[in-house]
Amino acid sequence: MKKYLIGAGAVIVLLIIGGLIYMYSGIFDISARVPHDPITLWAMNTVRDNSIKHNADNNIKTPDLNDSDLVKMGFVHYREMCVGCHGGPVIERSEIGQGLYPKAPSLARVANDWTPQQLFWITKNGLKMTGMPAFGPTHSDEMIWAIVAFTKKLPTLTKEQYQTLDKETQGESDE
Ligand code: HEC
Repeated sequence: MKKYLIGAGAVIVLLIIGGLIYMYSGIFDISARVPHDPITLWAMNTVRDNSIKHNADNNIKTPDLNDSDLVKMGFVHYREMCVGCHGGPVIERSEIGQGLYPKAPSLARVANDWTPQQLFWITKNGLKMTGMPAFGPTHSDEMIWAIVAFTKKLPTLTKEQYQTLDKETQGESDE
């Protein structure tokens, strides 16, 4: 038994030393142009998805997300703060958005993967180790709900509807 314990201890010490050598050697390619290997990618996405589900408050008071004034307010914020990274029905990602890794997904495609409470949590808190910023430090909960209301409309929003909202809110900004 003692022999096995010493053997297991030696393996752990070697793994730690090997890990440290790897970290300090600079072999790891930190370039945003080189994708993660499949295991790292799986681990990061699994941690992210489960963390969001665990931390989002399902009992939080949710306003009426179909309220058209709220959706319009959310659009103004989306146009100013989100579209550069996530794109939209009319607008391509900006040069910053195109160079991000991991890439910010099209919210028109993924918004329905999340409940409104989860979207609220993501927008308010941001996501570590990605380019997704936390908007909680700069935006009230009411504004974040407006952004969620608009985000929930994205999957069914047509180019024409996006352009109409754009015209209707010309000159309005993220105040
Ligand atoms: C600087 C770039 C950037 C900006 C600006 C940004 N995001 Fe993101 N966002 C990201 C990145 C990168 C991810 C992907 C994270 C990942 O793959 O784990 C992300 C992920 C998300 C997700 C999770 C989507 C999914 O299924 O993985 C949501 C929801 C989201 N952002 C909403 C928003 C909203 C709403 C705004 C504007 C208020 C916004 N983001 C602004 C970069 C950005």
